[in-house]
Amino acid sequence: MQIPFHKSDVGSAEINALTAVLRSGWISSGSKVLVFEEALKKQIGCRELIALSSCWAGLFSVLKLFGIGPGDEVITTALTFAATANVIEQVGATTVLADISDAMLLSAESVEGLLTKKTKAIIGVDYAGFPADYHALKKIATKHKKKFSSSNPFHQALGRILVLADSAHSFGSFPIRKFPIRKNSSAQKPLSRLSALSLHADIGVYSFHAVKNITTAEGGAIAIFNKRLRPKAALAQLRCFILHGISRDAYSREKDQKSNLRASKYPRHWEYDITAAGYKFNMTDMQAALGLVQLQRLPRLEKKRQAIEACYAKILSKSKLFRMAGNHLAKNMQSWHIARHLFVVELRLGRAKERDLVLQRLYAHGIAANLHYRPLYTLKYYKEKYNFTATQITKRFPKTEEKASRILSLPFHSKLTKLELSYITSIFQRVEDEILKEIQTKH
Ligand SMILES: Cc1ncc(COP(=O)(O)O)c(C=O)c1O
Repeated sequence: MQIPFHKSDVGSAEINALTAVLRSGWISSGSKVLVFEEALKKQIGCRELIALSSCWAGLFSVLKLFGIGPGDEVITTALTFAATANVIEQVGATTVLADISDAMLLSAESVEGLLTKKTKAIIGVDYAGFPADYHALKKIATKHKKKFSSSNPFHQALGRILVLADSAHSFGSFPIRKFPIRKNSSAQKPLSRLSALSLHADIGVYSFHAVKNITTAEGGAIAIFNKRLRPKAALAQLRCFILHGISRDAYSREKDQKSNLRASKYPRHWEYDITAAGYKFNMTDMQAALGLVQLQRLPRLEKKRQAIEACYAKILSKSKLFRMAGNHLAKNMQSWHIARHLFVVELRLGRAKERDLVLQRLYAHGIAANLHYRPLYTLKYYKEKYNFTATQITKRFPKTEEKASRILSLPFHSKLTKLELSYITSIFQRVEDEILKEIQTKH
């Protein structure tokens, strides 16, 4: 049996929605994107939102909005996908890598030790779907606000270091209040909007790439949570940034022209201005049509992943070699509903050598398990540019070193069949027995 790490879950509803857009005569950014944005805004509960071409583009645009560039520092976790740090490099700022906590999220303690006068932003990563502790990160940023200065109007309005969320993994996670209706009840109720907003970062950026919790093939969204950022002004600037710096996009001009004609006014549909040398990061109506269907299917997609998680959790509870990775210990499990994105397991015994053996043996049986992630400081670009010595790595990244050498991710997508799941669990247990025996004979 061949089991890929991921398979996209798109069906006839997505195909029909896409076909309708293709037949409509308007396939780039238009009304569907606006409807998708409204639906996302409602789902996330943010103040303002803009959909765009990717999470990378969103993170990059936010750093640009805050005027972050050469001479500035941005702190982020060493355990993430390269995109999180690549945007920092691309705006010309310095990437300051921090360690993770036991929960495998950006460690607030490590961040605090790395703050300088040059720090302009902290990017938390919602690893595997588990939100970073934005409450703690905002507290640290506030504590250091006297040392902070910026000439950027959005940064000045905020009055402190920006706390940005790379929420590429966590679409569908939301703050909750667990309250006991009856004894032992695990019922969940959404928090009041204000309390929920306080648990988020100042701004969050989501990904709808093919492997994410919902997909638009490629795509992303920037969600603004903090009122102090003047969300409407920030949104207007972002809209302009992501589409050439144009004051009025083609869809608005077409719409204005129609309403002007109805009102018998002289239509000036050709007019626009360029207010910035912008980028080209807009989302298309085809992507938005896909996303709208996926959004409707989100609860069912999530239920399927929950069933897979329950099945994996059962075999892990009996395992001598593996356990659930540390993110399942996240403190904020109590205050968030977590939409799982990856299922990460951690070796109890052994390190990278044994972990690599597990990955190889699973692969030999047709199961494409994966690794999320090799620490950024081990990857060529970051290794050569920041050049940490072995001693510095041990001192600065003790948790990242410990965890990254022991983790692997099992296939965890809604297209997995019962048969495939039972194949994975039986092979996983077989590989576990083999590796355990090999470890024991060595000692
Ligand atoms: C943690 C993280 N951040 C950012 C990204 C980039 O997302 P996108 O492909 O939408 O730019 C990814 C993509 O996998 C990711 O895993």
